[in-house]
Amino acid sequence: PEGVARAADGALAVGDLSVTAVAAEFGTPAYVLDEGDMRARCRDFLSAFAGCDVYYAGKAFLSKAVVRIIAEEGLHLDVCSGGELRVALSAGMPAERIGFHGNNKSVDELTRAVEAGVGRIIVDSFQEIDRLSAIVRSLGVSQKVLIRVTVGVEAHTHEFIATAHEDQKFGFSLAGGAALDAALKIIDEDVLDLRGLHSHIGSQIFDTSGFEVSARRVLGLQAQIRDARGVELPELDLGGGFGIAYTTQDDPSAPSDLAKRIDKIVSDECETQRLEVPRLSIEPGRAIVGPAVFTLYEVGTVKDVDGIRTYVSVDGGMSDNIRTALYDASYSATVASRASSAPPILARVVGKHCESGDVVVKDEFLPADVQPGDLLAVPGTGAYCRSMASNYNHVPRPPVVAVRDGRARVIVRRETEDDLLALDVG
Ligand code: LLP
Repeated sequence: PEGVARAADGALAVGDLSVTAVAAEFGTPAYVLDEGDMRARCRDFLSAFAGCDVYYAGKAFLSKAVVRIIAEEGLHLDVCSGGELRVALSAGMPAERIGFHGNNKSVDELTRAVEAGVGRIIVDSFQEIDRLSAIVRSLGVSQKVLIRVTVGVEAHTHEFIATAHEDQKFGFSLAGGAALDAALKIIDEDVLDLRGLHSHIGSQIFDTSGFEVSARRVLGLQAQIRDARGVELPELDLGGGFGIAYTTQDDPSAPSDLAKRIDKIVSDECETQRLEVPRLSIEPGRAIVGPAVFTLYEVGTVKDVDGIRTYVSVDGGMSDNIRTALYDASYSATVASRASSAPPILARVVGKHCESGDVVVKDEFLPADVQPGDLLAVPGTGAYCRSMASNYNHVPRPPVVAVRDGRARVIVRRETEDDLLALDVG
């Protein structure tokens, strides 16, 4: 795992602490956050995108400690539900540094966001414009908003597809004219303050040309808005989606390279359209927290299946990492509690759940002497693992342990069977 070295006894160390000590104190499975690594990633984005606002996308993983880390580092925060908003506010995130997303925010969620004074709400439908204006008017305030524009760029991991129309639930279509109509409607609405346009083209993106096409398209719309109403919008948000390395096959761009390419395309396009360069913002989630976490499991059983491969079962599985089953995502695994010089064997790391799709790592070479009691580390699990974890088979969700300078602290405690049973009031 990145940021993880082997200690003298051969065990992996994170934040100057051996994983065997972490497992002894906190148990397994556990998500282990290298806090120094996460902070370094925040700083990398901030310095690469100097003069821009960096919104950490809380959907990747959010907890009060994470809110404090990103607030201390100077990031903003993107939330997409009342629950995420609650975590942010309860950890003291300044409301004006919060952006609120979602294609179906409820009246209750919108009201809470406006009352809290969130810096911006990213509106996603005509109904929401009406709903939000009514709420804002009844509270006697005004609200800054961005428009989520569907730019017709669909990004995949190694490519992007630009189509005229995108068939999906988010945003206002650019090609169909809805985005321009939404902008004009909001400009005419006195309680809403239209600050800019927003686009988000996908997640785990390596091909940055998708961002370039989308930036050009939203700036084109900005020029149309200016021509129609004489208004130049001061902000532009290009969303998140920056890919990370899950295996050695992946080759993500450094934030500084991304920033250079995005800056250039935005300034070129603004020159062409004779627009002032807007204040840019981005919303990385995965790229900030993904590589900073690994999941620590204990091996329970090892089974050689007909000489095809060895199934190594760990004490978690698809309830703490659904991404392999859901997206066919690739991960790697390594024996973390000791060094081994045994020859490699083809292994599949599987969980303890009652279905055969319960795979954590599809293919990995592990030492032939892998055995019950070994600790396994699966790196790159900071994003969309704890946040998408479930209680399938009534398995309690693992804790998140943050390690820094040789000290570990629990930031999200382990769920217990009692926690689960407490919800069962029948
Ligand atoms: N901004 C918006 C508006 C988004 O919808 C998302 C992610 C982000 C930012 C952050 O994207 P990131 O930088 O983390 O790629 N569950 C999936 C990922 C879903 C992403 C949804 N939106 C996964 O596990 O891969």
